[in-house]
Amino acid sequence: MEKNSDRWWRNEVGYIVYPEAFKDGNGDGIGDLKGLISKLDYLKDLGVGMLWICPIFASPMEDNGYDVSDYYAINPRFGSLEDLKLLLSEAHERNIRILLDLVLNHTSKEHPWFQKALADPSSEERSYYIFRKGKMVGDKLLPPTNWGSFFTPSCWEKVEGSDEFYFHAFGSGMPDVDWSNPKVRELYAEIADFYIKLGVDGFRLDAVAHLAKDLSFTDSDLYDEDGDGFVLDPSKFSNRPELFHYLEEFREKALKGRSVLLIGEVGGSVQPYEGKALADRLSGPLDLLFNFDTVWNNGNFGSIGKKDEEIVTDVMQLKHNFTRWYDACHNSCDMPLYWCNHDHPRLLAQYGSRIYRKESAKALALTLLFLYGTPFLYQGEELAMDNLIEGSIEDFAADVGTADSITSYRKAGYSDEQILSFLRRAARMNARTPLSWDSSPYGGFSEVKPLLPYTKDYLAGYNAKVEHDDPYSVLNFYRSAIALRKNTYYNNLVQNSQLEWIDWNHQDVISYLHRGYTTIMVITNMRPYQVYFTFNFQIADVLLHNYDGVLLSNHVLTLRPFESYLLVVK
Ligand code: GLC
Ligand code: CA
Repeated sequence: MEKNSDRWWRNEVGYIVYPEAFKDGNGDGIGDLKGLISKLDYLKDLGVGMLWICPIFASPMEDNGYDVSDYYAINPRFGSLEDLKLLLSEAHERNIRILLDLVLNHTSKEHPWFQKALADPSSEERSYYIFRKGKMVGDKLLPPTNWGSFFTPSCWEKVEGSDEFYFHAFGSGMPDVDWSNPKVRELYAEIADFYIKLGVDGFRLDAVAHLAKDLSFTDSDLYDEDGDGFVLDPSKFSNRPELFHYLEEFREKALKGRSVLLIGEVGGSVQPYEGKALADRLSGPLDLLFNFDTVWNNGNFGSIGKKDEEIVTDVMQLKHNFTRWYDACHNSCDMPLYWCNHDHPRLLAQYGSRIYRKESAKALALTLLFLYGTPFLYQGEELAMDNLIEGSIEDFAADVGTADSITSYRKAGYSDEQILSFLRRAARMNARTPLSWDSSPYGGFSEVKPLLPYTKDYLAGYNAKVEHDDPYSVLNFYRSAIALRKNTYYNNLVQNSQLEWIDWNHQDVISYLHRGYTTIMVITNMRPYQVYFTFNFQIADVLLHNYDGVLLSNHVLTLRPFESYLLVVK
C-alpha cells in the first residue's frame, strides 16, 4: 500500500467548520459556502492551514448533513458544486487545505438507493443495506436483535407492511450501508475519487469505526440497565477486524496513490493498539485518527440529574488519556489533537470557566497546541464562545440525537427543568450556534435572523471584530500561539522530541516539556482558583503567558486561576 510521504499535516493546525453556523453569504439566515469563502482571510490570519468542513452534501438535514441523500450534489442551502470549486481555489491560494466530511457508514433514508431498496426487495440496492426478519415472540414481532443504537433505543426500524427491519446505528432516518458488500465499497471509492479529482485535500471519515458489523446478528448479553429490552453493545458494530480491510481497500481504490489525507473518526471504545494499527505511517489505511477519550473527562456526558457543580474536570484522567494514546502511537503514527467538536458543548463550558473566561480560553488553547500531534480547533473556540445558556428545550431538540434522548429522559421520569439544565451543559446544539463576527445585529453572521438559535456572545465583546482590535483578546492569543506552534523550530521540537510530563501526580496542573537544543515547557493550572506548583528549572524565556508577572519564589510557582505558561527552560 502506498502512503503519503510528505505528511504535511504534521506542520499544520486544523480548524473545524460547521458550515450552517459559520457565515451566511446570501442573506437567508443559514451559513453557506459563499459565507465561508468570504472569511478565508480571517482563517488565514488565524494561522490555520486546513479546514475540516462538516458535511455539505444534499441532505434532508435530519442529522444536519450526516444523513446524505446525494453524495454528488451540494446541499442547495450551502451552495453548489461551483461554490465548492471556488472555495477550493480560494483556499488553496491562501495555503489552506480543504477536507470534506464523508459519511461512509450510512445514508439518509431519502437516498435513492434506500428508496429503491424499500420499494423493491429484489433490487440490487436492497443488498446495499442491512435488512433482517424480526423475531416472533408470542404474538409480538420484535426487532431481530436486542442491539441498541446511539440515538434511539433499538437499532432496528420496522419496514412498514413487512416482517423485516432495517439496521441503523444512529437515527432511524439514517440506515447503515452494508460494507460487506463489495459493490457498496466500490460506490464509496468512486464518490471519494470524484472529490479528489475536484481538488479536495482529504476527508474526515465519519463514524468509520462502525463500518463492519457482527453479521451473525446474535443478541448481546450485556446487562440491560434501563430495562427497555435494548443494550448499546459496541462489540457488535464497532472496531471489528474486517474494518481494517475495508479501509485498506478504500484507501487503495479511492486514493490510487494520490497524496490525500484520511482522518477517521473512530469512537466505539477504540483502544490505542487498534488505533495504532489503523493509522500506522507505513501500513495503516488511515493517516490520523480521532478518538473520543479526552473529550468528556469531567462527568458531563449523560450527566442528567447532576448539578452543575458536580461537573469538575478530572485532570488526572485527562493526562492519563493523552498519555496512553501518545505512548502507544507516537513512534509509529501521526495523531490529531482536539478538545471538542460539533458533537460536544463549547470548550469554554466543558473545561473552561465563565468567570475566568479569557484566562481559561487561552490556557486551554496553549495546553493543547504544544502537545505531540496535529491540533484542530473548533470554530468559536478562538473567540471563547459559550454554550447556548439561554436555549429552550425546542432549541436543543433541533438536533436529532438530542431529540431522541429528550424522549427517553421524559419516559424515565426526569422533569423538563432537569432535562433543560442538562442540555444547556452537555448538548451538541451548544456548539452549533452562529459564529459571532461583530457587534452588529445577529453578530454579523447574517443580515436576517439566523435559523439556528444564537448566543449573546457577540454583545458581550466575544466576537471577531472586537477581539481583533484588542491585543489581549483570546483571538490574538490564539494567533500568537498558532504562529509559535507552526514555527519550524518549535514544531520540530514538539513533533520529534520525547514528551515528558512534569509533576505527573498534580491533580490540578497539566505540565509537560519537550527536550531539544532548547527545552520548552507548558504549565497550566486547570482550576478556577489558585494552586501551587514546584518548579525546579530556570526560566530562559516566557514565550506565551496569559497573566502579567511571574509569581515564583523558593522553587514554588503560584498559579492564578487558569494561569498558563509556555516557557523556554534550562
Ligand atoms: C459522527 C458525527 C455526528 C453524527 C454521527 C452520525 O459522530 O460527528 O455529528 O451525528 O457521526 O453520522
Ligand atoms: Ca445562506
